Amino acid sequence: MPMVSLRQLCDHAAENNYGLAAFNVNNMEQIQAIMEAAKETDSPVIIQASRGARKYTNDRFLYHLMQAAVELYPKIPICLHQDHGNSPETCMSAIEQGFTSVMMDGSLKEDGKSHADFAYNVAVTKKVCQMAHAKGVSVEGELGCLGNLETGMGDKEDGHGAEGKLTREQLLTNPDEAADFVKQTGVDALAVAIGTSHGAYKFTRKPDGAILAMDRIIEIHKKLPNTHLVMHGSSSVPQALQDIINKYGGKLKQTWGVPVEEIQLGIKNGVRKINVDTDLRLAITGAIRKVFAETPEKFDPREYLAPARTAMQAVCKERMIQFGQAGQAGKIKVKPLSEIAKLYN
Ligand code: G3H
Ligand code: 13P
Ligand code: ZN
Repeated sequence: MPMVSLRQLCDHAAENNYGLAAFNVNNMEQIQAIMEAAKETDSPVIIQASRGARKYTNDRFLYHLMQAAVELYPKIPICLHQDHGNSPETCMSAIEQGFTSVMMDGSLKEDGKSHADFAYNVAVTKKVCQMAHAKGVSVEGELGCLGNLETGMGDKEDGHGAEGKLTREQLLTNPDEAADFVKQTGVDALAVAIGTSHGAYKFTRKPDGAILAMDRIIEIHKKLPNTHLVMHGSSSVPQALQDIINKYGGKLKQTWGVPVEEIQLGIKNGVRKINVDTDLRLAITGAIRKVFAETPEKFDPREYLAPARTAMQAVCKERMIQFGQAGQAGKIKVKPLSEIAKLYN
């Protein structure tokens, strides 16, 4: 089957009250882990690539790995999504590489660091919607800056976020602005800022409502019941994965991620796409460290990459079940992008 648009997957998820993990990838083992977990659980798949991932894979390797996934897993609908596109040009180049969905992150300027104003965000996002929708490709926008409500700091840890201190209002998506933004741009999905941030160091304690504003999601969903909401920075940073890394020589500081039960609350309130990158990074690192520590004589990469892939697959499978996408792949009647394009006219 052809690759599927994000809009089609999210519409199906909304009709059937479930959420979809969107896993970031950079290499073959990550794609294989996600696809095997999807096969095991009959889950539709969102695979996403950041600008860094596209550079790392040189685009063409990613393109052909994705073609292999499509060929080898014909029963699994797969969406390939550009994560955090920083400009209309980035989004257009993704579409040319066969991506079926793009994120135009106009919450930040093109440098990916400076906070952009509402008018800029609307202008770039609308432009991307016009280009992408003509081809049936979906668009995710973002309003509000990801960052930490404990410290007020923007989310620059992994190069995707605002620099410096932001106000609480800049760190939370405003529901009225969100409604205006969706109306003016026509986005298919909206990423919201609720106190999550990228990377491992999200919270210094198990988050409660003061530092993880799930109530914002509920408010936004009430204003925008037909817009698919997206949670970024939504790895759960499981204690067990932190412990494996530290047991085998790593030096992670104690940290907390987004609890799965909070994500499940989000799914009940309009969240359809949940971005997960860090949890797979933790899984791969823990497994490799274990092999290196226990059998330092080994040097065949397959002997540490295979367990790393198995560890990532286990995380993917767990999230697919927890988010409710398990069992849904076979129920989706995939439409080609040319059919989807007609729906925007
Ligand atoms: O949005 C952030 C993702 O975790 C991707 O991060 O730019 O290091 O690939 P990256
Ligand atoms: P994590 O760092 O929490 O995995 O978030 C990934 C993400 O939001 C990618 O856009
Ligand atoms: Zn993100």
